[in-house]
Amino acid sequence: MADLAVRLCGVRLKNPVIAASGTFGFGREFHQLYDIGRLGGISVKGLTLEPRGGNAPHRMAETPSGMLNAVGLQNPGVDAFIARDLPWLLERGLAVIVNIAGNSVEDYCRMAEKLAPTGAHMLEMNISCPNVKQGGVAFGTQPDSIYQVTRAVKARAAQPLMVKLSPNVADIAENARAAQAGGADCISLINTLTGVAVDVRRRRMALGNNVGGLSGPAIRPLALRMVWQASRAVSIPVVGMGGIMTGEDALAFLLCGASAVMVGTANFADPFACPRILQELDTLLAEQHVRKLEEVVGAVIEN
Ligand SMILES: Cc1cc2nc3c(=O)[nH]c(=O)nc-3n(C[C@H](O)[C@H](O)[C@H](O)COP(=O)(O)O)c2cc1C
Repeated sequence: MADLAVRLCGVRLKNPVIAASGTFGFGREFHQLYDIGRLGGISVKGLTLEPRGGNAPHRMAETPSGMLNAVGLQNPGVDAFIARDLPWLLERGLAVIVNIAGNSVEDYCRMAEKLAPTGAHMLEMNISCPNVKQGGVAFGTQPDSIYQVTRAVKARAAQPLMVKLSPNVADIAENARAAQAGGADCISLINTLTGVAVDVRRRRMALGNNVGGLSGPAIRPLALRMVWQASRAVSIPVVGMGGIMTGEDALAFLLCGASAVMVGTANFADPFACPRILQELDTLLAEQHVRKLEEVVGAVIEN
């Protein structure tokens, strides 16, 4: 049996499989199906300073080998999460990664301050959000704004800071370096790719928000390429995601430089996806006589 434990910026994960933000809620529904404490970690649904009701329907559309979503960050707000959901999650025995979203640098900073005295293990900063003060261009698309928001939040965060990079950019390596320069303890990627779907009978955009985020196996080769490029550009750990459905997919991300992986859309197709992927990865590593997970991280042979 391989030792699957990972140390991610000082936080111990019992294995590298983490439930991805927005696809696992706060874990309660999945815990009715299996003990979520078996997973390495959970990244909770993206939280904002104030509660949000989210976008008008439709919020999801099925696409070839994937899905588009425009949920619009529906969430109960960071205060309700800290009071109601965080204590329950901290008793489950997995790393709790708190995903935060904001429309200004101040929003992110205030959330980091509110989370500082809690027992949350790590923050994941979703920077695929519009920067209202800079005309609504997403923080995650410009190296300079990535650097600025990372630096400001790092100065207030008590927990290690993971910066979640957007794939809707020209140069992922440059953005990974900007996060590192701003003081990120690790990076995660990729978030969803922007897309639209059309209901041709109604001649109308399928999603209430028109534009949605594409996820699932359709984005996996692109996600793998970005994880590979980003991991070569920085010295901090990288957490990889994008279309992971099986243990083989997870291993491909580890080989391309990810120290751990997140599983998102797969949870909708198979509610047992996370423990299944973990089991498949374990079997695959045992077949390859791998004793420690680090042996495979970044070990892909390039041509
Ligand atoms: C319905 C849905 C909601 C999501 N909500 C969030 C979110 O709140 N915050 C965030 O950082 N990412 C969010 N994501 C992105 C996922 O965490 C992940 O980055 C992306 O879906 C790619 O992984 P996958 O192909 O395994 O789903 C969401 C994805 C989906 C499908």
